[in-house]
Amino acid sequence: MKCRVCREPAVIDLRRHNANFCHEHFVAHCEEQVRRAIRHFSMIRPGERTLVAVSGGKDSLALWALLGSLGYEADGLYVGLGIDDYSDESHEYARGFAESRDLTLHVVDLATVHGFTIPGAASATRRAPCGACGLSKRHVFNAFALDHGYDVVATGHNLDDEAAVLFGNVLRWELEYLGRQHPALPAADGFARKVKPLYRLGERETAAYCVLERIDYQVEECPMAAGNRHLGYKELLNDLEARSPGSKASFLFGFLERAQEQLADTTRARADADDAVLLRRCTVCGAPTPGEVCAFCKLRERARSTS
Ligand code: AMP
Ligand code: FES
Ligand code: ZN
Ligand code: ZN
Repeated sequence: MKCRVCREPAVIDLRRHNANFCHEHFVAHCEEQVRRAIRHFSMIRPGERTLVAVSGGKDSLALWALLGSLGYEADGLYVGLGIDDYSDESHEYARGFAESRDLTLHVVDLATVHGFTIPGAASATRRAPCGACGLSKRHVFNAFALDHGYDVVATGHNLDDEAAVLFGNVLRWELEYLGRQHPALPAADGFARKVKPLYRLGERETAAYCVLERIDYQVEECPMAAGNRHLGYKELLNDLEARSPGSKASFLFGFLERAQEQLADTTRARADADDAVLLRRCTVCGAPTPGEVCAFCKLRERARSTS
């Protein structure tokens, strides 16, 4: 197995690209995929302040490292979710990476700042924890970016994540979600820009990048997510990918090139007609919301009163 670029011994084969790479050229390949993503969707412009949401897992640490190698000075934000040992450990990996590279890592601990944890919120709402978790993370990322003058929030969602979300949205024909599923959501009143610079790299690539670049990351998956739908879709897509390499990428990239824009226009037009886009300010925290109090503040209230 030889590197496609230099013919030296390869360390990884990427069937989707029909290519093998040595360490050096694999890293160059990852950088190139991120550079292309950023350029194609104008994700980060020169001089903009970038906040990377860092979970301590392979994707977000690879993202932080790759942004650095491409010359972007990004700060990190870790959100403490209060999921027992899992959260303590993930914080350690995020902190260890930041210290080793002399980077700034901000921390927002849900229990300290907002008085609740994700397991607490899950039992208060009697729903799967991932809903409360996703809602809380999105809220904290956005509020932190706006309060601290960051122009853009970058998350480590990779090709596998995005293909699995797309699969779930297509399975149920969730047109509104499909209209909003995009690697770069523009800023709007009360919302920072959100970007996913790793959408062209698979999970196997971000893991290999971390191993080769000696980045220690949390290997365990969140214990509360076990058995959820999203993981099931990932397994299905992995089976498909094993039979026909490149399926995941053509599914996601085809959607982005040929369908996403039309769906975004349609759902925007429908929302305008319904007046559903009229957002006010949450009376508790000031975040944009269609109601009086935003979903995050409602969740916090419920979780606090039942804990
Ligand atoms: P997940 O929703 O767990 O698949 O994570 C998707 C992305 O959200 C990660 O790649 C990170 O960028 C970000 N993220 C997840 N968990 C955290 C956390 N506890 N703190 C900060 N960012 C996170
Ligand atoms: Fe959110 Fe596990 S990380 S429920
Ligand atoms: Zn090479
Ligand atoms: Zn609020």
